[in-house]
Amino acid sequence: VVLVVDFGAQYAQLIARRVREARVYSEIVPSTTPVAEMLARNPRAIILSGGPSSVYEEGAPRLDRELFEAGVPVFGMCYGFQLMAETLGGTVDNTGAREYGRTPLHVSRNGSTLFEGTPAEQSVWMSHGDACSAAPEGFAVTASTDVVPVAAFENDEKKLYGVQYHPEVMHSTHGQQILEHFLYRGAGIEPSWTTGNVIEEQVAAIREQVGDRRAICGLSGGVDSAVAAALVQRAIGDQLTCVYVDHGLMRKGETEQVEKDFVAATGVQLKVVDAQERFLNALAGVSDPEEKRKIIGREFIRVFEQAQAEIIAEASGDQPVEFLVQGTLYPDVVESGGGTGTANIKSHHNVGGLPEDLEFKLIEPLRKLFKDEVRMVGQELGLPEEIVQRQPFPGPGLGIRIVGEVTRERLDLLREADAIAREELTAAGLDREIWQCPVVLLADVRSVGVQGDGRTYGHPIVLRPVSSEDAMTADWTRMPYDVLARISTRITNEVKDVNRVVLDVTSKPPGTIEWE
Ligand code: XMP
Repeated sequence: VVLVVDFGAQYAQLIARRVREARVYSEIVPSTTPVAEMLARNPRAIILSGGPSSVYEEGAPRLDRELFEAGVPVFGMCYGFQLMAETLGGTVDNTGAREYGRTPLHVSRNGSTLFEGTPAEQSVWMSHGDACSAAPEGFAVTASTDVVPVAAFENDEKKLYGVQYHPEVMHSTHGQQILEHFLYRGAGIEPSWTTGNVIEEQVAAIREQVGDRRAICGLSGGVDSAVAAALVQRAIGDQLTCVYVDHGLMRKGETEQVEKDFVAATGVQLKVVDAQERFLNALAGVSDPEEKRKIIGREFIRVFEQAQAEIIAEASGDQPVEFLVQGTLYPDVVESGGGTGTANIKSHHNVGGLPEDLEFKLIEPLRKLFKDEVRMVGQELGLPEEIVQRQPFPGPGLGIRIVGEVTRERLDLLREADAIAREELTAAGLDREIWQCPVVLLADVRSVGVQGDGRTYGHPIVLRPVSSEDAMTADWTRMPYDVLARISTRITNEVKDVNRVVLDVTSKPPGTIEWE
């Protein structure tokens, strides 16, 4: 394993993904993890992420010098770079030399492990106020910018490397190559990790964990639960029963897709529970987003418990249903504060919203994976393209895309608007470019319009097309105007009570992708 030490910004996940793209397995650990504990995991290499602090500030996260003396290759990026410099006797200060964004980097490639074979001039992504003005003893300086004299340093003998910039972001043109140079050449790691390994490992682990008992899995219609279910099905076959809760918060056609396509592809045993009334009743009168999320999460589990009881009653054997399969992903774990001690931004319904009286043991075979890796696993498991390539959709469904109280009429209305938007986006060939496009109903807002000859007083629909790599950060998609125009015309013409369509032009941060 390669450990990515998280210094508190959200760069660590992206770094971990990039390492895996280099076919080396990586995991994130918080910077507060004792060095001895990190070393006890026998990491092949350690990467220090960026972070918002200044190394010379009081209370800034530090690392024990021991880390750099254990013979484990270390690569510091941004804050990690400065921390390495400072810890090993270099100089880091606030020189007033701030650099933000795309910056030209001047590289000396001679004898460089990191930069060999890359251009002498390259564009990198900087984000720092402090700078390293002198490298520690024994280090060769291999890059600089117009502003900072030490933008990269290397010590081949000790296998310690660092760069001031962010090689993990796309704007650093040779970032992935430099990271791979560190992993393959600096740390001597063979690229061998694949999602195929994950399947084998998980199948074995799940068989071991479940034995001859039974598991149930909630299918949401999304990629994550489908892949989790297919993986567990591969491991334990008919000991798995999938439950699809029709909570009435799904988009148009999704229930049918689960009932037909998924079952056809996997041969899984499926039980469909119609719980529309139950969810609507539980959500009645509730407009607070966190409360909605908690209610939906809780009801979900309750419905499973009931389904479990029924499945036990129906089963002829007496093997207990002890396990619940969930499609929790690594970013969910990290964002819910379960990975790194980062702030709880929203309670994702499959992590933070679990009730305390949970009766199942969880199987979460995707807990260490990023979304693109989950898709690869799904593909290898033979799931249909429409399921594997489906854009993300939140567990709480349309429930968190109605700003205001959730009612059946509002759901029907939003479903129509959403179906139109999806249809037009697909027709325009934008499904891959757009990460996802929440369609949101502002149920408590009304505005005046004119349609036909009459005045209308209807609701706005918000389109929220975003481009993203991992949902941790996102930008609003610069969509063609003609596609927006078609969606707007169709929604206002075809959906009753909607007389306005607006476009959300906020990146994440500061906005989240979903409105609630
Ligand atoms: P936000 O709104 O936090 O969304 O920027 C990030 C990504 O997560 C999805 N999302 C959820 N997925 N359960 C899920 O399974 C949830 O409770 C949930 N909330 C948000 C969202 O669609 C986006 O892809």
